[in-house]
Amino acid sequence: MVLVKHSERTVRKPCRSCGRSDLYWAHDTDRIYHKACPRCEVTGSFVLIERDGSRHNCRNTTDGTGDPAPDMELDGPTEDEDREAPSVPAPVSPDVQTALGMLVGALTPQVDRAEIEAMVKEAVANVVFPTRTVVERANGERKEFTGATHHKLGDVIISLMAGEHVLMVGPAGTGKSTIAEQAAEGLGLKSYSISLSPQTPASQLLGYMQATGDYVPSLFREAYEHGGLFHFDEMDNAHPSVLAVMNAALANGHMAFPDQMVKRHPDFRAVASANTYGRGATRSYVGRQAIDAATLDRFSVETIEVDETLENELCHSTGLEIDQVEQVLTFVRGLRANAEAHSMPVVISPRASVGMCRLLAAGRSWESAVQARVRRGMGDTEWNKING
Ligand SMILES: Nc1ncnc2c1ncn2[C@@H]1O[C@H](COP(=O)(O)OP(=O)(O)OP(=O)(O)O)[C@@H](O)[C@H]1O
Ligand SMILES: [Mg+2]
Repeated sequence: MVLVKHSERTVRKPCRSCGRSDLYWAHDTDRIYHKACPRCEVTGSFVLIERDGSRHNCRNTTDGTGDPAPDMELDGPTEDEDREAPSVPAPVSPDVQTALGMLVGALTPQVDRAEIEAMVKEAVANVVFPTRTVVERANGERKEFTGATHHKLGDVIISLMAGEHVLMVGPAGTGKSTIAEQAAEGLGLKSYSISLSPQTPASQLLGYMQATGDYVPSLFREAYEHGGLFHFDEMDNAHPSVLAVMNAALANGHMAFPDQMVKRHPDFRAVASANTYGRGATRSYVGRQAIDAATLDRFSVETIEVDETLENELCHSTGLEIDQVEQVLTFVRGLRANAEAHSMPVVISPRASVGMCRLLAAGRSWESAVQARVRRGMGDTEWNKING
């Protein structure tokens, strides 16, 4: 079972069985809903999940199944919940509720307690929490990711479970390589990765024969023969001869390596990442190769954009003061939006915001952190445009 978190905010209507409202809507991919969710593109009925991403097993049920009342699952989120979640960048720690409770106590009886409680509830309900992903494998094993995950991790895992190879496309630093590692972890497969460049020879995938006649195997051979998730990182940077090898490996159930034919292991899966959709260079990614249609055709494509709730969490985990993190996020996201609006060939990735937070937390000045992590030698004209 894969639970894919749907709502960014806690439910508006509480669970009918136990009355709790600190829950989220998610899709259970094992329970097929009649159509794919228009927002998440996931086919799976609505279920309630806890804040940590695990299934809400309601103890208050009469049938003893632990499931909430069946009609809850069909309801899904209200229209209000389904609207774009408001951006509340600072994750609120559980201590905040306690602090707010103390505040309520301090203000009572001067101010109406019920009114304050309603305000507190509203504030907490609007907090956007990053996605947490839980995978339940076919053999019943459960993998719960402890940290925050990109909201697309669930989709990538579902596609891989369905036997697809997945190409993740997105700008630099959005978390593609991390998703590849986590997908292997989620599926219980060994993780292999190779970062491709125009100089990467085909022998790096195929292995090679030494003059002595001994075969030197590659990581790819290991995964192909014994199973594992192989990540072709920077696929749009690869030499066409390497793509041809990849194509042959994915097209057939066997493959000619320099020493012998090898049968593809049933647990071999491939995931690739790229900054472009394989149609050649773009303004921001100038050196990228076009990928031939036959190779592209082997992959399901997932677009991996910046996940702002994940970016929030990574910035806050640097230990920088909350209000300074806010300042960094507002500044970096403003630059990102301007770069996009002006179609500028610059990449303002989450690495910029996280890097700035780290430098500020270590005592660097705002100006020097901007120079080191964001401006990075940009000329005045370009900088004024992006920073305008
Ligand atoms: N879920 C996550 N939890 C913790 N850190 C993360 C997570 N996702 C991404 N990161 C961090 O964000 C940074 C960028 O992530 P990653 O390298 O996976 O991005 P990418 O999309 O592969 O980038 P590129 O296109 O440049 O290869 C890394 O430092 C990584 O550790
Ligand atoms: Mg990467």
